[in-house]
Amino acid sequence: MKVITVFGTRPEAIKMCPLVIKLRENENIQCVVCLTGQHKEMLYQVMEAFGVKEDYNLDIMKDRQTLTTITTSILERIEPVLKAEKPDVVLVHGDTTTSYAAALAAFYQQIPVGHVEAGLRTGDIYSPFPEEMNRLLTDRISTYYYAPTKLNQKNLAKEGIIDNVYVTGNTVIDAFQYTVKDGYSFSNQILKNVDFLSKRVITVTAHRRENLGHPLRNICNAIKRLAEEKHDTLFIYPVHLNPAVRDTVFDVLDDVDNVLLIDPVDVLDMHNLLARSYMIMTDSGGLQEEAPHFGKPVLVLRTETERPEAVEAGTVRVVGVEEESIYKEAMTLLEDCEKYDEMAKAVNPYGDGHASEQIVQALLDIER
Ligand code: UD1
Ligand code: UDP
Repeated sequence: MKVITVFGTRPEAIKMCPLVIKLRENENIQCVVCLTGQHKEMLYQVMEAFGVKEDYNLDIMKDRQTLTTITTSILERIEPVLKAEKPDVVLVHGDTTTSYAAALAAFYQQIPVGHVEAGLRTGDIYSPFPEEMNRLLTDRISTYYYAPTKLNQKNLAKEGIIDNVYVTGNTVIDAFQYTVKDGYSFSNQILKNVDFLSKRVITVTAHRRENLGHPLRNICNAIKRLAEEKHDTLFIYPVHLNPAVRDTVFDVLDDVDNVLLIDPVDVLDMHNLLARSYMIMTDSGGLQEEAPHFGKPVLVLRTETERPEAVEAGTVRVVGVEEESIYKEAMTLLEDCEKYDEMAKAVNPYGDGHASEQIVQALLDIER
């Protein structure tokens, strides 16, 4: 069986590399890796961390790229790859524009698509934007579905998608076996110098398109207030390379002493940073799955989430994008030990770390 995996952004790579490793270990499968290159540096950091080599790189990234150029560049550049390779299945991941465009390109060649991390939904096509529509359309196109949880399977069933749905867990849990190590030493020099014992560290990330502009400014203003009032707390913010993110973040937070604005760190440093943090403030999807695994409370800087599992378990709270609500919720966790302890519990609704093996097996079962 020949499988092409197509991915192009940091989070897709973090969740697809463990699967690629398992696919390449299997002698009955030929696994071709095609990067769209929707991201560059942030993608290559991940490929290097996992030691995965690509067969193709469509190299589409442009500075301040638009959704239209991402989609059209992928459609144009992937067609010859699909025509040359003639795979049995194209595997895509999640909800990026890479996922949707690659699925559409495969459909145009009448090649079946397998969707890894299928079935996540908020129910609002504009939030997250454009991810909710990307995953709806990708699921519409797909033939095979690898749903992380039973809830994701139910979401698919509500849309009439019943056949070929496998509940596998999330491959992000598989990734920890490659990234989390006892006695880990950071490769980022700034992280290496942080004294995690004498300071409480809050890790922050924010990058979502719907948060660009006013909501991101609110988030940064809340962090500035928190940092100025809580000198014993260090905020570590690896800032996404999107210039639209960096302009706002550096404008508000550059001069605040106990806020460290650093470049994106590799996934080994990131997972080990999560393990040493007091809590996480983020609009990221992946971090909502990762941080609960380490027993770290997560404040979600969004108005909704497609990952309600850890919210129900009590370690993730959606706090919106208003300065006051973000400030208050974070302050509560910094000052109220009981409230902190209620949230700081290890929760993992996302499987046993063997999602990749289950996906490989499901692929092999197609042949029978
Ligand atoms: C994309 C995904 C989003 C995912 C996020 C993960 C879409 C529409 N969005 O959003 O779902 O959560 O990735 O981070 O698919 N840039 C660089 N170097 C890099 C990466 C980005 O310079 O390695 C800059 C470029 O100027 C680029 C901009 O960031 O144009 C935005 O990148 P883009 O992929 O369009 O959007 P993200 O916000 O990263
Ligand atoms: N991450 C990383 N380095 C960083 C910031 C995040 O490796 O500097 C990892 C993080 O641990 C998670 C993933 O990137 O696995 C999340 O990616 P992102 O927030 O860009 O996208 P999302 O998950 O929101 O789609």
